[in-house]
Amino acid sequence: MRTVFRPPAPTPLPTMPGLVQLLRTLHRNPLECWSKEFFEQPIVRIRLPFLEAVLVHDPVAIKHVLVDNAESYRKDPIQRRILAAGLGDGLLSVEGQQWELQRRTLAPLFARRTVSSFSDVMLRVADALCDRWRGLKAHGTVDVAQEFTLLTLNMLAVTIFSDGIGSDFNAFSAAMNDYFDALGRIGVLDLLGAPDYVPRPGRKRLRKALAYFEEVIDEIIAVRRRRLDRVNDTEAPNDLLTLLLRVPDPATGRPLSPKEVRANILTFLSAGHETTANALTWATFLLSQSPHWYERVRAEADVALDGDRNGLLEQLVLTRAVIEEALRLYPSIAALSRVPECTDAIGEINVHPGSLIVIAPYVLHRHRCLWNEPDLFDPARFLAPARTGIPRYAYLPFGAGPRTCIGSSFALQEATLVLAKLVQQFEMQLAPATKVWPVQKITLRPANGLPMRITPRSNA
Ligand code: HEM
Repeated sequence: MRTVFRPPAPTPLPTMPGLVQLLRTLHRNPLECWSKEFFEQPIVRIRLPFLEAVLVHDPVAIKHVLVDNAESYRKDPIQRRILAAGLGDGLLSVEGQQWELQRRTLAPLFARRTVSSFSDVMLRVADALCDRWRGLKAHGTVDVAQEFTLLTLNMLAVTIFSDGIGSDFNAFSAAMNDYFDALGRIGVLDLLGAPDYVPRPGRKRLRKALAYFEEVIDEIIAVRRRRLDRVNDTEAPNDLLTLLLRVPDPATGRPLSPKEVRANILTFLSAGHETTANALTWATFLLSQSPHWYERVRAEADVALDGDRNGLLEQLVLTRAVIEEALRLYPSIAALSRVPECTDAIGEINVHPGSLIVIAPYVLHRHRCLWNEPDLFDPARFLAPARTGIPRYAYLPFGAGPRTCIGSSFALQEATLVLAKLVQQFEMQLAPATKVWPVQKITLRPANGLPMRITPRSNA
């Protein structure tokens, strides 16, 4: 039985494409732009007519940019321009003091203890999906990518906003889909730095989705404000919404403004669901191609899920390793970018405020100097003792430094519990004639979804 295999990914190009080809490919699928040298060299500088980019895939240099000298770097204007439509005042996009204040205020909700307390709810949401899948026609085929997108949105709705999303969940989810689709492609206009008033394709759809979100989120806030007015502190729901509305910044005593509250609700819903859905989608795909790991994860789930719920997560070591390996091969956020605020040296290379610094987890995680057989699926790399050999800053699915993902424990817990449940209860096989291909559209996902045949285990 094969234990490792090579999952689909673009073969690195022999050399970088010319400008026109590069812009076309960036628009279609940035993953297909990477040439061999990026996977072999620690730092590569490229000069385009409108931009100088420095691609950094050396752990020491990454630490310099994201951690040690983080205050000298900002999120880049392209990323901000793309995200600004709607998320502009949320934690993902703000900078400086506003970021510090928001991060301090929001951190308690994502503390490990708080996240652990969501385990039971997460398992209940996973159970609801299992019930639905059991009702599918014999050998029913479903697009699990879509299923996981709904599941992870619902997970946020019931854990973080304990009253749920409020209005019609399906309509909200459809609007979220539309929103990501419209945001999803790197436009040439964005790359060239065209100002916001220049019309871009997809902006109308984006505005429509945003207007809808604003309406729904304002309603959620209004309902919660009325409820908070009626109850005392101990009776208030203990969730992100209460925190957003009530808790002042520990340092300044200032609460978040209504605009910041709304932007953060949208930020958590959008930053937290598709990323996690992709991790689950890729993990499911990878397992479906590796009977050896499917059996191992199932054996682990049989013991852990049917036993004592205390310490459940710590028992799901193999399941977690599969999720981590899925995030290595297919990191939901395939590239991070920064701009220096002043001249700086990254390794031997001088960068200045006009440079764009790119750290691409997709490249880093497949770098020839950092990983053994980087293109092969092998979750064993994340098991002891091999795990200790992974250099710090060689594996960055959640970024690093002060702007590291605030929801990483939440996402890993959710993905691990859901995957264990599904593998325990179902056979999941790729639908015949499906070609799986990774595409980077804001997040990294399979180009045409992931149709799978789902069969309850007892009937398999
Ligand atoms: C597998 C799932 C996830 C992945 C791979 C992921 C990845 C990332 C990455 C790479 C960053 C850093 C971006 C940068 O440095 O430019 C980030 C930031 C962020 N993530 Fe996640 N994320 C995931 C799940 C979540 C969840 C569940 C939430 C919330 C519910 C969340 C909320 C955020 C926020 C608010 C930030 C900005 C943090 C800041 O700038 O202080 N993410 N995420």
